[in-house]
Amino acid sequence: MRVLKTVEGLTCWRAQATGTVGLVPTMGALHEGHLSLISQARRANTCVVVSIFVNPLQFGPNEDLDRYPRTLAADVAQCEAAGVDVIFAPTAAGLYGTETQPIDAQPLKVVPPTEMVNRLCGASRPGHFEGVATVVTKLLNLVRPHRAYFGQKDAQQLAIIRRLVQDLNLPGQVVGCPIVRSQSGLALSSRNRYMNEPELQQAAILYQALSAAKAKFKAGVRSRQPLIQAAIEALQTAPALQTEYLDLVHPDTLIPLNIVETTGMLAIAAHLGATRLIDNILLRTRQPIIAIDGPAGAGKSTVARRIAHQLGLLYLDTGAMYRALTWFVLSQGINPTDEVAVAELLPTCEIKLTSQGKDHHDPQPPEVWVNGASVTQAIRTPEVTAQVSTIAAQSAVREALVKQQQQYGVQGGIVADGRDICTHVFPHAELKIFLTASVQERARRRQRDLVAQSLPVPDLAELETLIADRDRKDSTREISPLRQAEDALELVTDDLSAEDVIHKICSLYQQITVDQT
Ligand code: PAJ
Repeated sequence: MRVLKTVEGLTCWRAQATGTVGLVPTMGALHEGHLSLISQARRANTCVVVSIFVNPLQFGPNEDLDRYPRTLAADVAQCEAAGVDVIFAPTAAGLYGTETQPIDAQPLKVVPPTEMVNRLCGASRPGHFEGVATVVTKLLNLVRPHRAYFGQKDAQQLAIIRRLVQDLNLPGQVVGCPIVRSQSGLALSSRNRYMNEPELQQAAILYQALSAAKAKFKAGVRSRQPLIQAAIEALQTAPALQTEYLDLVHPDTLIPLNIVETTGMLAIAAHLGATRLIDNILLRTRQPIIAIDGPAGAGKSTVARRIAHQLGLLYLDTGAMYRALTWFVLSQGINPTDEVAVAELLPTCEIKLTSQGKDHHDPQPPEVWVNGASVTQAIRTPEVTAQVSTIAAQSAVREALVKQQQQYGVQGGIVADGRDICTHVFPHAELKIFLTASVQERARRRQRDLVAQSLPVPDLAELETLIADRDRKDSTREISPLRQAEDALELVTDDLSAEDVIHKICSLYQQITVDQT
């Protein structure tokens, strides 16, 4: 691991870095919350950069800039243990000016939309989100990460950064990570170390208040007033907590909500003595998502299709989406190997999948639409089949289609399979399955399939080598590598029939839907 203290050092390192880079921006005083971001970055990228910088620009004149905990030596040790490749820990003078010249009194600032910064935390912290947006813009431009990781704990910050990256075309995909809490429910924060034991106990009421509102939400309450009231009642049990705000907003736009249609966020800030605490909870009406990944030949798509049919959910046929795009590319007379021309087409190709219904006896593939026209049959021609892997290998294509796939995740109620469905496309799916089987078993299954199709059948040893090779390629590829998500349930299917697997996943799904109501 390297600890780099200057922009020059970082720039030089970045020019030499190969593979994918994940960035985790922090202000140090690292705790398990930060470490969860780091471990997510570690799993998905070749290199992980953690920045540690207490950014003066985001602190107000009466805030805790001077007493903010600075624990670089301990942070370095934690990063080392977590497998971080580079720590970027510049000085303020170095990041905003040069080491030898003092920090510019008026650095250029990035100004997010007013309606996102003037509410919630922004109301009492004028200039704070300009400071955050400015430093994050600099970090993203310097590190040029493939992915940048931010916690849901700072939900307003996350929403603003998503908007910033989108509107200014900044490099990197923003990955939001769930809140890590202590046993008491208190969201971990570097500022928790300002509190003593009795204060920590009072602070835990914050989460109890949010949970009380969530319980109401689960019971079917959707409107603002009773949800907020539920939280207020719980807060009254902790008189030392001075509520600064308690609001129900949309988590992406931050606009206050009167009713939660699909997604809402209840956000709170409170003061406990000299410590300011924030927390939030997501309220979602969406149906659960079942995500299935695993190595090639483990039977993902057959299983996923049949589960969707059985549960009356939409099978998100990602293979059909790549076929639909391939059909569109060919229909526009574009050469599928011309990546730039294909990328130019992407914003003009809207792919939709609709379920063919539960009435059929057998699971039917979904109906596929491109810009409103049905292409269900057209995408199955040999011309499309011949080009689909060329199209699917292009990174711009994968990025665009992942976005379209994630749109289906907003409502939920889908079963999706694919190499990186659990790790990348739907990391927050309610049920994640890593479906696998030994190389030998997959070779035997492949042999049986080939026999059934009256195709030439290589011997088992040859098939085993091919499958092992494919596994190696899939798990080391740069775009969408195959990795088992930490919270995925591994199902080894060597001794299981397809029926057994389907039955198992369906009963797990039923458990979740019971838990959610
Ligand atoms: P900092 O407060 O150090 O947080 C760094 C990152 O860790 C943020 O994305 C934050 O949301 C995340 N984080 C903190 N506590 C968490 C928890 N309990 N669970 C999950 N994630 C958690 O946020 C900042 O620094 C700064 O504003 C920064 C983005 C670095 C810009 O200066």
